[in-house]
Amino acid sequence: MSINFDRHIDRKSTSDLKWHTSLVKGYLNVDISEDMIPMWLADTDFACAPCIQKALHDRVDKEIYGYCAPMKPFYDAVCWWQKERFGVETDPSWITMCPTVVSSINVAIRAFTNEGDGVIIQQPVYDPFATIVKRTKRRVVDNGLKLENGRYVMDYELLEQQASDPNTKMIVLCSPHNPVGRVWEKEELKRLCEICVRNHVLIVSDEIHADIVYEGHVHTSILNVDPAYRDQMILLSAPGKTFNIPGLKTGYAIIPDKDLHHAFNETQLDMSLDVRNTFALEGLQAAYSPDGEAWMKEELAYLQHNVEVIKNFLKDEMPEVTMIEPEGTFLCWLDFKKLGYSDQELMKRIIIDAAVVCVPGPWFGNGGQQHLRLNIGVPTDLLLEALNRIKTAIQ
Ligand SMILES: Cc1ncc(COP(=O)(O)O)c(C=O)c1O
Repeated sequence: MSINFDRHIDRKSTSDLKWHTSLVKGYLNVDISEDMIPMWLADTDFACAPCIQKALHDRVDKEIYGYCAPMKPFYDAVCWWQKERFGVETDPSWITMCPTVVSSINVAIRAFTNEGDGVIIQQPVYDPFATIVKRTKRRVVDNGLKLENGRYVMDYELLEQQASDPNTKMIVLCSPHNPVGRVWEKEELKRLCEICVRNHVLIVSDEIHADIVYEGHVHTSILNVDPAYRDQMILLSAPGKTFNIPGLKTGYAIIPDKDLHHAFNETQLDMSLDVRNTFALEGLQAAYSPDGEAWMKEELAYLQHNVEVIKNFLKDEMPEVTMIEPEGTFLCWLDFKKLGYSDQELMKRIIIDAAVVCVPGPWFGNGGQQHLRLNIGVPTDLLLEALNRIKTAIQ
């Protein structure tokens, strides 16, 4: 197999969120010119794997798209992928199909915390974490990441204090981390788990980016940190990012503890989120297969190349912009502090005038100021055009 990731695919003829200026405007509240390069939303511009396309076509040919339920092929596919990619032995009875990872975070917060309880997150982090905590009337407890020698690390002393507050009930971990690109090492996760478990803080680990991990780094599943901790954790994931199928709604939760699993399912039912999409089943089963894995390895090589492209460009052409070396994810976290521009100025120059639509750093909370997040899951020539536009915009 050799996939052409350089191909440009028309996404304006579909209802794709990323490529319509009217929809971007709704998010950013600014006018964006039609020649924008959208590098904001976290989906890639790559065609999804041929094995997924075939599975969907085959399902379309079956003519009826009635109510459906995950069956053995679904559970087998999740178990296979978790074992094959991360060495996790999963019992099918631990798995629940969910619409999305974000809806599952919402379910977990409602199931296992009460209004007013503290939920730890580690900012700067994927913005829906804070949004859900606030919308469910819980409290954001920010265990902000620290930047040490150009690499973000966790603040364990602060975590110890925050977790020991009896009103702190949960941590939502982003592993790998969006937007800072960290792939947490086993020892780091062990320290986090030890503190949380000792203080009865339930661990919810969002591992949606776990497949996109670059050379020299290894994703450790939260379930493999220490089997002794398994009864206090929930793993959430989906093939949506890796295989560019987030529109299919292919989320799942893995919850080894029987009581937690039952409570999660009950809350999902309370929220009428026990809904299944026929095409999600087909999409996940095709993605989590040997053919899907072969495709993913090619995608990973392409993304790794894009990381090198952006690194070299910044070094040679824009040394005043610092990129935090991504260890995983197709999202790059760019630090513009040395230029001294405010967030409004960065928005004006880069997003509005140059029409390179990145995510403004403040979306990710504390520590996001004077940063932008750039999605490099795009053909390399588009990445280069965006970088050239940014270079001109900041001069
Ligand atoms: C860390 C993280 N979790 C979840 C999601 C969204 O996943 P879903 O569409 O399954 O809710 C994203 C998308 O950017 C993400 O970065």
